Amino acid sequence: MNSICYIAGLGTSVPHTTLSNFDFEKIMDTSDEWIVTRTGIKNRHVLAKEQNVSDIAYEASIKAIQDAKIDKSEITHILVATCSPQNLSPSVACLIAEKLGMSSVSGLQTISPKNPSLVCFDFNAACSGFIYGLELARAFLMLHRNATILLVTAEGLSRRLNYQDRTTSILFGDAAGAVILRDHGDYLYSVLDVSIGADGDYKDLIRIGGGTEWQAKVGDRIDDTFFLSMQGREVFKHAVRGMTQESFKLLERNHLAISDIDLFIAHQANMRIIEAVGERLGIAKDNVFTNLEKYGNTSASSILLAMDEAREKGILKKGNKTLLTAFGAGLTWGSALLS
Ligand code: COA
Repeated sequence: MNSICYIAGLGTSVPHTTLSNFDFEKIMDTSDEWIVTRTGIKNRHVLAKEQNVSDIAYEASIKAIQDAKIDKSEITHILVATCSPQNLSPSVACLIAEKLGMSSVSGLQTISPKNPSLVCFDFNAACSGFIYGLELARAFLMLHRNATILLVTAEGLSRRLNYQDRTTSILFGDAAGAVILRDHGDYLYSVLDVSIGADGDYKDLIRIGGGTEWQAKVGDRIDDTFFLSMQGREVFKHAVRGMTQESFKLLERNHLAISDIDLFIAHQANMRIIEAVGERLGIAKDNVFTNLEKYGNTSASSILLAMDEAREKGILKKGNKTLLTAFGAGLTWGSALLS
């Protein structure tokens, strides 16, 4: 199978500050036992006061650039998947460009017919952001041969968690991930195919406030609509269905059986969801990689955190067939096939 998109470098970053289940026991009526049994999560990393998502996004980007052994001047696009951006505007993508010092190589002062201008923007597909980003990158690579895309996932959901809501606040953590995507050159993994979907009828199942719906005046108090809210049980059901069905669709389209899959990495939301999807797909337990116990649900970044660790452990291998799948607010979902 030929590809139009290759992962040339990969990097991730998590903040140093951690919040364990035992830390939650001190601030709300919950227990390590309840959280581990219902979710599989033991720990999460959260932004420190002086940190923001562009800081961890920049760190992940630098690692991906170094891993790909490219120079930053080769980057033509910075695409950032986030549902917890630093500001409504400017985009996290522009903040990363500034931190990387891209202005001198592809900014306003360098516009010329010979020099490609840098493209930067954020997009929101919530926890499905990485899979959506792979599809976006494939589209850009078809339009612009020789493009070098820095695809970043940057999430700081701890800043939008209601720590009085024990059902949602225990689930999420902060993290960033980055990959360099190209249609040429040395690579780690090839992106064979991607399939994504969405259904706005389920818009109310997971919501994060702070946009224009929130009609605040200076001096107003923040109320709970500002924070993340979720109908957990409903989300659980749809997540299992969405990830299973989209994965079967992708396999069928590529004439593959589940037995052809060497490794399965699902969005690291909840161990029970991952197990349910794995069972429905019929994938061997040994071929399912998870690391959510350390990080919680890091939204768009969770698959990259898992890929990075699986690579380090020698489990994610070039040439082996890896199935990725994700699900998130919107509702959105998607699956991707790597080799
Ligand atoms: N600690 C202790 N008890 C808790 C608790 C916590 N952190 N959170 C909720 N509970 C309680 C509830 O108050 C409820 O008590 P009650 O029966 O006395 O009313 C009981 O546990 C069951 O609550 P419920 O919300 O029905 O639990 P659940 O089994 O559905 O588990 C989730 C809750 C959130 C773990 C589960 O619904 C889930 O994983 N959903 C998917 C969430 C997700 O992954 N979303 C992201 C997708 S991208």
